[in-house]
Amino acid sequence: MSLDWLASRGAPLRGRLRVPGDKSISHRAIMLAAIAEGTSRITGFLEGEDTRATARVFAQLGVRIEAPAPSERIVHGVGLHGLRAAAAPLDCGNAGTGMRLLAGMLAGQAFDSVLVGDESLSRRPMRRVTEPLARMGARIAAGDGGLPPLRITGGAPLTGIEYASPVASAQVKSAVLLAGLYADGDTAVAEPRPTRDYTERMLRAFGADVRFSPGAARVAGRPRLRATDVHVPADFSSAAFFLVAASIVPGSDLLIEGVGMNPRRTGLLDALRLMGADIEAHAEREEGGEPVADLRVRAAALRGIDVPLALVPDMIDEFPALFAAAACARGRTTVRGAEELRVKESDRIAAMSTALQALGINVQERDDGAVIEGGAPHAGDVDSHGDHRIAMATAVLAQRVDGDVRIRDVENVATSVPGFVDVAASVGCRIAAITPSA
Ligand code: S3P
Repeated sequence: MSLDWLASRGAPLRGRLRVPGDKSISHRAIMLAAIAEGTSRITGFLEGEDTRATARVFAQLGVRIEAPAPSERIVHGVGLHGLRAAAAPLDCGNAGTGMRLLAGMLAGQAFDSVLVGDESLSRRPMRRVTEPLARMGARIAAGDGGLPPLRITGGAPLTGIEYASPVASAQVKSAVLLAGLYADGDTAVAEPRPTRDYTERMLRAFGADVRFSPGAARVAGRPRLRATDVHVPADFSSAAFFLVAASIVPGSDLLIEGVGMNPRRTGLLDALRLMGADIEAHAEREEGGEPVADLRVRAAALRGIDVPLALVPDMIDEFPALFAAAACARGRTTVRGAEELRVKESDRIAAMSTALQALGINVQERDDGAVIEGGAPHAGDVDSHGDHRIAMATAVLAQRVDGDVRIRDVENVATSVPGFVDVAASVGCRIAAITPSA
């Protein structure tokens, strides 16, 4: 059954909160723990639909995974060659990360696999991974137009490649590196711009021979992976909605605890500060090998900016939130070089432009971005297109609106931030879930 939200001006955001675990790290922790030797304990695991789908896939592949407590998983690794054929297609749900990384790992197995996804994932491009994997020797076929499902024929010997990726994508890089674990020799990936390096960091933690620097990574084939415990920090991308909400709602003063601060993820922080946001990082520390901080954010008068091109990959998931901030800023915000947004869970340039326009904000769409004139958003009706980040970004923007903003088709918020409405309400936001017939 589908679900909508009614959101409107609440109280200033005050107090402290913690958002759930990082989605990217949670996926990778399950994947590498599954093919390591021994038992790994994952804490801070994201109990979201996407990461649970990945855990279910590994259960289908013969890996025993226990959940002794919420946000905790014990993974009984089966070793590099211990996965077993699944009896049915492997359902990655809404998760591009799940499908693309699994494509790489399963390309190196002795058995066949089929990867499927939901309606949104079934519209997302897969040639970006099937092409380099085929170059390594994988037998992998996408459906019409290079879309899911992916059919992998097992038993194909893989050979390491030097891959110059045409797209700045951590998912592509990771798919190739994970296939590289099963390949003869080294596998290397060079990126047009550096992307998140969690696969590389985690491969190292599990004992692989991996070398990396921003924009380049190399892994040696056929390592022995040793089980290790993983602590997952809070997801910066989930914190992002609260950074924007507290920035745009006058009188707000909010502390967001234990946020992952990997520099490949925090581009929005830089962009918001350029816009005049008042955000301080406190108690900067390391948790589970990742930089973490508590972020104190106070309301501020934002001004429009040209988002620097260099920040784009480091805030690739944060553009819906950035659009919401830009809608409340004084003056014009310009986004360029962000064409990848068109192939996310929805076409995020189109979805956010249409949403802002429905709330009375002047936006011009461009092929690779948009020009947003800040203003005063009013009540209206918005379609999230089943995209979790469009739903949360517009709910945040609605905190500046007198009158109801109706946000349609919000169930997929559970893919990344389960409990978003409750957490938001606990610090003053007003968001009510309703069934569409209401
Ligand atoms: C992710 C990489 C990004 C990001 C996605 C998660 C990952 O996708 O948008 O939400 O975990 O590797 P691309 O690498 O395709 O840009």
